[in-house]
Amino acid sequence: MRVITSIKGVRDEIYKSDDPVGFIPTMGALHDGHMALVSRALLENATVVVSIFINPNQFDSNGDFEDYPRDNVSDLGKLKKAGVGIVFTPEVEEMYPNGFDTYVDIGKIGNLLEGKSRREHFKGVSTILCKLLATIRPKRAYFGQKDAQQCLVVKQLNRDLDLGTEIVVVSTVRDSNGLAFSSRNAYLGNDEKRAASVLYRSLVLASDLWRQGERDAKKIRNRMRDLVNTESIALIDYISIADADNLQELDFIDRRALVSLAVQFGKSRLIDNVIIGGLVENTRN
Ligand code: PAJ
Repeated sequence: MRVITSIKGVRDEIYKSDDPVGFIPTMGALHDGHMALVSRALLENATVVVSIFINPNQFDSNGDFEDYPRDNVSDLGKLKKAGVGIVFTPEVEEMYPNGFDTYVDIGKIGNLLEGKSRREHFKGVSTILCKLLATIRPKRAYFGQKDAQQCLVVKQLNRDLDLGTEIVVVSTVRDSNGLAFSSRNAYLGNDEKRAASVLYRSLVLASDLWRQGERDAKKIRNRMRDLVNTESIALIDYISIADADNLQELDFIDRRALVSLAVQFGKSRLIDNVIIGGLVENTRN
């Protein structure tokens, strides 16, 4: 496994061969969710590149960026064991050198849900993904359904800027209580972790209600809200039922819909989602 820190170095290594490249961008602190993307990419591509870069431009505050979990030794061990060929681990100065002054403005899809409460977030995500995709030029890039809006953002970016990558979306990986793996789970105490499983329980409730014939989005949102509020430490940021393609909120569920929520548990703000009313898994652009 080659671990490379410079843009020139990683380009030289990748362009040595014409093998199709599968790429997984990450911010490290790798868990089973990340590793599911890696396994999928290893099945589908001769060369697999994983990037580990904690992108300062997508965090709300410097404190949040500085506190983000970092564990390079464990990350590299996992990637090596999985059989990854190339890991790209640039420093901040490599990606944002002095004088850096170009940002990607993602438009409507970036201003909803996560973009509403975290204004600059998707501008930062779009900019770094644009730079990483331009550096690696993968045939396929892999993203988790766990960050459903990020998947829509990268599809839009890929389409609008003609980046020519196939975007592969991989299902959310969860622990035995249904809690989606997230690097931010590292901040959860035992009680918070147990309480946080209410996220998934509320999503299962929404799917069940939909399956039983409920189509009134407000009724489903209210039932989810009541369930989440049974956990006294849960602070709801939003509960949304929206068109799965453009994230416009729905009153009546007559199409494929993304049910998503963001809830604060202690220091951790967690997000999760399911799709109702259509096929979910392993969608491609
Ligand atoms: P990060 O949070 O490290 O996630 C990297 C990838 O792993 C994302 O595509 C995310 O959706 C996926 N992922 C995280 N948890 C998952 C889970 N439980 N199941 C399946 N996939 C999961 O997302 C980012 O980094 C950054 O925004 C990035 C795209 C790297 C840009 O900086």
